[in-house]
Amino acid sequence: MRGATDAAVVTVLGAGTMGAGIAQACVLAGHHVHLVDAELTALERGEAAVRNGLERLVQKAQLEQAGVERGLALLLPTTDLPAAVAAAEVVIEAVSEDLEVKRSLWRLVGAHARPGSLLTTNTSSLSVTEIAAFGPDPAGTCGLHFFNPVAVLPLVEVVRGERSSEATIERAVAFATAIGKTPIVCRDTPGFVVNRLLIPYVNDAVQALDEGVVGARDMDAAMTLGANLPIGPLALADLIGLDVTLAAIEALHRETGDPRYRPAPLLRRMVRAGKLGRKSGEGFHRYA
Ligand SMILES: NC(=O)c1ccc[n+]([C@@H]2O[C@H](COP(=O)([O-])OP(=O)(O)OC[C@H]3O[C@@H](n4cnc5c(N)ncnc54)[C@H](O)[C@@H]3O)[C@@H](O)[C@H]2O)c1
Repeated sequence: MRGATDAAVVTVLGAGTMGAGIAQACVLAGHHVHLVDAELTALERGEAAVRNGLERLVQKAQLEQAGVERGLALLLPTTDLPAAVAAAEVVIEAVSEDLEVKRSLWRLVGAHARPGSLLTTNTSSLSVTEIAAFGPDPAGTCGLHFFNPVAVLPLVEVVRGERSSEATIERAVAFATAIGKTPIVCRDTPGFVVNRLLIPYVNDAVQALDEGVVGARDMDAAMTLGANLPIGPLALADLIGLDVTLAAIEALHRETGDPRYRPAPLLRRMVRAGKLGRKSGEGFHRYA
């Protein structure tokens, strides 16, 4: 195995919010990154997101201007998944959170991946063990769960699938560390660590709002001013996206059958009404 800090060929599957952020972190660490998407427009958006992300680091004096061009030179956006996967020493799957999409994608990965490559999924709410079983090498596969925005949040949850080998976990930890992240290793249980604690908290806040305990603005003020959290739970739900929040609490409920994870009815009503938070301009708060 190569050293953790050697430049590697990394293939990121999915050029959306997470794929672009992960690709940015990888080029900054000197890796060659194939950024793959099925949609050309998504790929172009992903490439632009990496460029903008690097420029933002220059504005914040965290990167020299030359670093932007250096980073972009390491980025290869492509729709040619077979070639990108065949070239990869590390595969990071970050396509849409849909089990059927992931199933067919991982079958393709299986047809093209080189033996011994580190295979990872960035899923937030699906089972890493199940996804790994779609691919070619469950022992060589684990979860590599980044947080949004990737450029800002240092944590990576390295998720141990039921069949992940110890060597795979060690490689994933070394890889995450070498791209400047702080990994923690956890078991493959619903929500892993952060979402298991955070999503029920947000869901509880929505339920309390629906019960008229307090208004939205004061609920957020309560938790920022009284618990010293950087953001209130409803503003956080708006940031995550109410649809994503609902899917996450539904997954916890479905997987565990535990009634304490029952989705707040107000959350469902808002998603049905298209109030998805920041991305739709309205959630628990309004956005210009
Ligand atoms: N958004 C978050 O806050 C967040 C945080 C952590 C993890 N995740 C996880 O990361 C993954 C991606 O989430 P996202 O928010 O970036 O989604 P997104 O919708 O922004 O991006 C997904 C991308 O995958 C592409 N895609 C779909 N099917 C494909 C295929 N077969 N081949 C290639 N590309 C394909 C889509 O075109 C899209 O560009 C999900 O598993 C999600 O659970 C998301």
